[in-house]
Amino acid sequence: MEPVVLALESSCDDTAAAILVGGKVRANVVSSQLGHTHYGGVIPEMASRQHQQAVATVVAEALRQAGVGFADLTGVAYTQGPGLMGALLVGSLYAKAVASALGIPAVAVDHLQGHRLSLCLAEPPASFPYLCLTVSGGHTQLDWVMGPTESTPLGATRDDAAGEAFDKAAKLLGLPYPGGPHLDALAETGDPEQHPLPPPSVPGLDFSFSGLKTALRYYIEKQQALQPAFLETERAHLAASFRAVVVGSLLEKLRAAILQTGARAVGIAGGVSANRHLRRAFLALCDEMGVQGTLPPLAYCTDNAAMIGLVGHYLLAEGQRSDCYTVPFATHRG
Ligand code: KG4
Ligand code: ZN
Repeated sequence: MEPVVLALESSCDDTAAAILVGGKVRANVVSSQLGHTHYGGVIPEMASRQHQQAVATVVAEALRQAGVGFADLTGVAYTQGPGLMGALLVGSLYAKAVASALGIPAVAVDHLQGHRLSLCLAEPPASFPYLCLTVSGGHTQLDWVMGPTESTPLGATRDDAAGEAFDKAAKLLGLPYPGGPHLDALAETGDPEQHPLPPPSVPGLDFSFSGLKTALRYYIEKQQALQPAFLETERAHLAASFRAVVVGSLLEKLRAAILQTGARAVGIAGGVSANRHLRRAFLALCDEMGVQGTLPPLAYCTDNAAMIGLVGHYLLAEGQRSDCYTVPFATHRG
């Protein structure tokens, strides 16, 4: 009999459930919380309450789309962290309750291993081992992925994540939250050479983006003092310049990591992989370096439960289990 896994993801502001049958995605349902836009960031308490309200409906919809019932499930996978504690608790407790009521195993999944395995949900899937650049609102890191449940970190951001940097820069440009996609769209119409910003300088395979955001802020303040309409008229050029520096820095480190590891396969995961300039420049880099490049479909780049279910599928097959002593691990963002 093929394993039928229910997966839950609730680390930040998306309530998501997926069903995987034999490791293949049969349903992938996401309910994104909208209320946070008004506050310019995710409000943790509000996120927990909205997960609580959405979780049962999202699971019911995933079961319906997959054409299976609770009685068909053979295991439950859930995001253990990193993420917001209250948000993680909703998903993990729901998953453990379902598993316990059905007498089936539950397993805790690392959210970031989930993002890394989203490369295996692409068509064609990435083949192991591969190099993965994870770029989300909460994380920016490079990992060497040896197998579905195994990877080693090579480098990470020392301060802001790339998505966080895009969101903060977008706020400085007067764009709504989350600003990454808005900044990206605006940058398409701007010239990155008009207002060049200083690229970050960090040794090895680590990243840093907070200095760049501060440089943008000071530059805007200085120019605004000279010409009050500066931001109004130059917004698109500033967006293009900021985007070019972030993407340039991400790909400079990716290039170094490919050379260091001798990787033949490489991919990008996480919400920022939706960035148009990053996607174009990534594919050009893979071409130039003669490596296999994978960009998962957008539904698997942003937070989703299918990626959690895929890791869970393999962990359950390895015999891994979580029990009432397995607690979520939290950070500020998933
Ligand atoms: O992976 P994700 O959906 O959630 C987290 O785990 O954080 O990533 C969300 C992040 C946000 O910071 C958002 O602004 C950014 O991804 N993002 C983008 C784009 N689309 C989403 N950043 C730049 N350009 C985009 N097109
Ligand atoms: Zn994420």
